[in-house]
Amino acid sequence: MLTIALPKGRIAEETLDKFEKAFGEKFIFEDRKLILEKAGFRFLNVRNQDVPTYVMHGAADLGVVGLDVLEEKEYDLIKLLDLQLGRCKVAFGLRAGEQLDFNKSKITIATKHEVIAKKYFEQKAMAVEIIKLYGSIELAPLVGLCDCIVDIVETGETMKQNGLEVGPTIMESSAHLIANKNSFYAKKDLILDLKERIEAHL
Ligand code: PRP
Repeated sequence: MLTIALPKGRIAEETLDKFEKAFGEKFIFEDRKLILEKAGFRFLNVRNQDVPTYVMHGAADLGVVGLDVLEEKEYDLIKLLDLQLGRCKVAFGLRAGEQLDFNKSKITIATKHEVIAKKYFEQKAMAVEIIKLYGSIELAPLVGLCDCIVDIVETGETMKQNGLEVGPTIMESSAHLIANKNSFYAKKDLILDLKERIEAHL
């Protein structure tokens, strides 16, 4: 039996589609149920940012999570495979017509991705103030909470509809299959077989 933590929503559905193609079984979470057990798999329906936590602690052998989430904290996990799902980037969002002013003595940035933003500016040896938010990031520069934002951009539509322009990209992201280290060694054959089968359907 393999336990696999999936991030609630579209990525979970797209991952389960890949499992259906790879294993010839249909996998659907029933109504509000958070566990789906079938054909030797136990899928867990968890919040995106919680996936690495379940895998780190061994409550799940495997997980599916965006590279951006993995970058935000240093997890001791194995990155097995790029599932090529949920492609997006972490980028700056600026008020339309404005540019990132690298000469300003201090830039204030609102983001969910504190660590990624901090690293970016550390490399440039620039002083920034980072304000942590948990959602609706695009709102922050519109009401003067910050100069700009660092956020996930997929189509760019959310920024556009809120009077922002997509600025420089910090990193590209997509959903990756990750493994708990102990599980990987204890269930190596099962996990590598799964990886190969899924890989064949990418
Ligand atoms: C992300 C991000 C933007 C939106 C960008 O939020 O924070 O709001 O997607 O997508 P777009 O470029 O296609 O408009 P997400 O849907 O991941 O939800 P979250 O804020 O709950 O993480």
